[in-house]
Formats: sequence, structure tokens, C-alpha cells
Amino acid sequence: MYRSAAFLTFASLVLGQQVGTYTAERHPSMPIQVCTAPGQCTRESTEVVLDANWRWTHITNGYTNCYTGNEWNATACPDGATCAKNCAVDGADYSGTYGITTPSSGALRLQFVKKNDNGQNVGSRVYLMASSDKYKLFNLLNKEFTFDVDVSKLPCGLNGAVYFSEMLEDGGLKSFSGNKAGAKYGTGYCDSQCPQDIKFINGEANVEGWGGADGNSGTGKYGICCAEMDIWEANSDATAYTPHVCSVNEQTRCEGVDCGAGSDRYNSICDKDGCDFNSYRLGNREFYGPGKTVDTTRPFTIVTQFVTDDGTDSGNLKSIHRYYVQDGNVIPNSVTEVAGVDQTNFISEGFCEQQKSAFGDNNYFGQLGGMRAMGESLKKMVLVLSIWDDHAVNMNWLDSIFPNDADPEQPGVARGRCDPADGVPATIEAAHPDAYVIYSNIKFGAINSTFTAN
Ligand SMILES: *[C@@H]1O[C@H](CO)[C@@H](O)[C@H](O)[C@H]1NC(C)=O
Ligand SMILES: *[C@@H]1O[C@H](CO)[C@@H](O)[C@H](O)[C@H]1NC(C)=O
Repeated sequence: MYRSAAFLTFASLVLGQQVGTYTAERHPSMPIQVCTAPGQCTRESTEVVLDANWRWTHITNGYTNCYTGNEWNATACPDGATCAKNCAVDGADYSGTYGITTPSSGALRLQFVKKNDNGQNVGSRVYLMASSDKYKLFNLLNKEFTFDVDVSKLPCGLNGAVYFSEMLEDGGLKSFSGNKAGAKYGTGYCDSQCPQDIKFINGEANVEGWGGADGNSGTGKYGICCAEMDIWEANSDATAYTPHVCSVNEQTRCEGVDCGAGSDRYNSICDKDGCDFNSYRLGNREFYGPGKTVDTTRPFTIVTQFVTDDGTDSGNLKSIHRYYVQDGNVIPNSVTEVAGVDQTNFISEGFCEQQKSAFGDNNYFGQLGGMRAMGESLKKMVLVLSIWDDHAVNMNWLDSIFPNDADPEQPGVARGRCDPADGVPATIEAAHPDAYVIYSNIKFGAINSTFTAN
């Protein structure tokens, strides 16, 4: 919801859009299952790729960095287009450099902080691929998406996220001549925060106006916007699922007001707040957490269903439903307990309107088209799996008091029981470097085809 970059703290890390050849790019395998009815699933040989922003970028055919600390090399990168010509993005050592491993078939483990030869890496973001150079595109309408998660080692302040972004299938390889790397190297990320910390956008380096002194990240003049469906943003204490829409229906580069930074938040191309379903925020404080109804000390299954108004794959998105499965028991989502919100346990246009009004939030989600707009985007989404800490607002929007200076007794302010200080990046990186999340057993298919009660 208030996503900022996961930051790298390498001494010397950089980006490019040519292809470097010092490390071979070998995508970890992460097969999924596609289902038509319970027990009737077929395996697909999918794999994951690390986002380009995390990679070493250097002069094409040379070891010189194109970006060091949080600065671009002015010789190699006098402007965005020249920089993209001069600089190459290299292959990734997934386990050694980034702490990304596959403990068993269909499982992906993302470690929060990974010590490595260059210092350390913080957080990671990967995309599911249908082949070695194409992201897998999902049409989620009239379907459900299911996976298992282990958040037992993911404390307050962290976010293990599983979501869909409306990225291009080839990462922008065909559309942007400056991009020679493409999906094989994890290019073309976008989301509803219109992130400006992306080093290459639309085949050009984001060098103009680049600044910022936090870790080795920065922000440039351009951002990159697209619709986003957050299936899962969570740690062991809090969780939310959240549709976010945009006024555009394809990934779109922004600048200025359109990116929605700071006070331009509600003038952005995209809806940064989204319409979130967070059980704790919606009045049920016993539903999710260690020892609670969904017990986060042990793995469980998360089912998310996208129901259309006419029950077909081309209908309009009507509602988004959630089930959990743990120990063979199907656990329906918690029911809202908020004055002014009808008792419900799923997201719909009416729920969003009522929640925004009850919490005094701006319904920018509705203004930009709400559920109907989300449905249009859900026809062609790329799956993102990540682990991150929050340099903007310490993850307080997910698991603590937000805004920090608001009265926690006011409706919508308390989102979880975590201390607001838990998510301060320096604190959490020092206290919990070994934190990790494991995602596994991804299934996709017809409604109620991917899970059963015992
Ligand atoms: C910047 O790149 C040029 C080559 O384009 C190289 O000669 C120079 O050493 C680089 N500077 C830094 C600080 O890496
Ligand atoms: C799906 O399963 C749930 C829980 O088992 C049930 O309540 C619901 O009616 C089913 N939905 C459909 C469309 O069959």
C-alpha cells in the first residue's frame, strides 16, 4: 500500500539494459499447478527471475560500474538513452548473492538480509515466468489463486508479499528499443505506487533528477505506473489483501503530478491506497497471528477468488473472496465489525465505499474506476513474489498505528498490534537479518478447484 523500494546495500551495485555475461542467468525453477476441479491439476514448468533493479550493472564488456552508491556514472550515463546503450545488466547468483533458494519443488524461500561477497543484500523481488524470456500472464477473472505460506519467521515490520502487477509479458523488450535485456533479466516492473526508484524505465536509465541518500537507492524524474492486485501483504502479525487501480490500462511512465508523490497522492495516475481488507483493521483482532484462528506459527494455505457478475472469464469483476486452509480445515475470511460497514467477509464496490467512508479515507479507488477497472487489468497480470522493509513509513500501514499521530481508538487507525518502531529499516535489518518467508504450492484454476477440506 505504501510500498517503497527494498534497498540494496552493496558497495558497488548497478543497472543496465544491455546484457552482461560475467554471471550466467539461471532462473530458479518454481513449478505451479493449473486446476479444473479438486484433484484435477496439471503441472506447469514455470520459473522465477530476479528484478533488474537488484542486479549488477556495468559498462558493457567491462567491469566498471555504471552506478555506485546511489549515483550514476556521469561519463557512461550523461542521459538516459546513452546510459542504456553503455550499460549492461548481468546475471544473478540467486542463492549466493540474494538469499533466494528453492528448498523443495514448487517452493521459494526469500531471505531478508543476505551477507555476500559485496557486503549484503536487503530484500528481493522476483517474477513468475512461463519460459526463460517471458513472464507468465494470468487472467484472474472467474478464477482463484492459491498458495501456501510460512510466515513464522517474518516478524513485525517486514512484508512478505505475493501480488499481481500489470507488466508487459516480455518486460518491454519489443516496445522499447533501448531495452535489450527484457524479462529474462527481470525488466519492466511497475506498480500502483508509480515507483520512481526504478533505474531503467521504458528502455532508458532514470538518470535525470536522480537523488536520494537512503542506502544505495534513489529516485529519478520518472516513475512507472500500473494496476496492482495485492493478494498477500503480510508478516506473522498482520495481513491485508488489496486491489489498486489506475486511470490507464497498461504500464505507463509518469513524471510530475502524475506519479503522485507527496501531496499529489490523489492526483496520481494510480490509486496508491487501494481498497484493503485487513481483518484487524476491520475489527477482528483474534483472527490472524500466532495462536489465532489462522495460526501464523505454522504454514497455511491462502485462497483468493475473483468472482465476476456473469460467472464467466470475460464478465465484470464483482467481488474478491478469501479462504484460508490450515490442518485440513477451510477457514472462511473474518467478518467485518465496523460501524457503518455491512457485515461482510469479502471485497466489493459497496464494501470499499463503506469502509472508506467509515474510516474517513479518500475513495480514490472508486474514483479511478473501482472493481470494474480492476477487473479489466486482472485479464493480463504478472505474478510478483517479494520480501521487503519499508523506508517510507516503516510498514505501519500494515501492522501498527497509521497515521502515527492519529488516535488509535479512531476507526481504521489501528492495523495490527505491532510497535510503530518495529519496522524502522535500520532496526529490523540489525535485529532480524535471518528473517525469511517461504511461498509454495501455487495453484491456479476454476473457482473452488484448488483446495478441499479434509
Ligand atoms: C565511469 O565510466 C567510465 C567509462 O565510461 C570509466 O572510465 C570511469 O572510471 C567510471 N567512473 C567511476 C567512478 O566508476
Ligand atoms: C466454494 O467453496 C466454499 C467453501 O467450501 C463454499 O462456501 C462456496 O459456496 C463455494 N463456491 C462455489 C462457487 O461453489
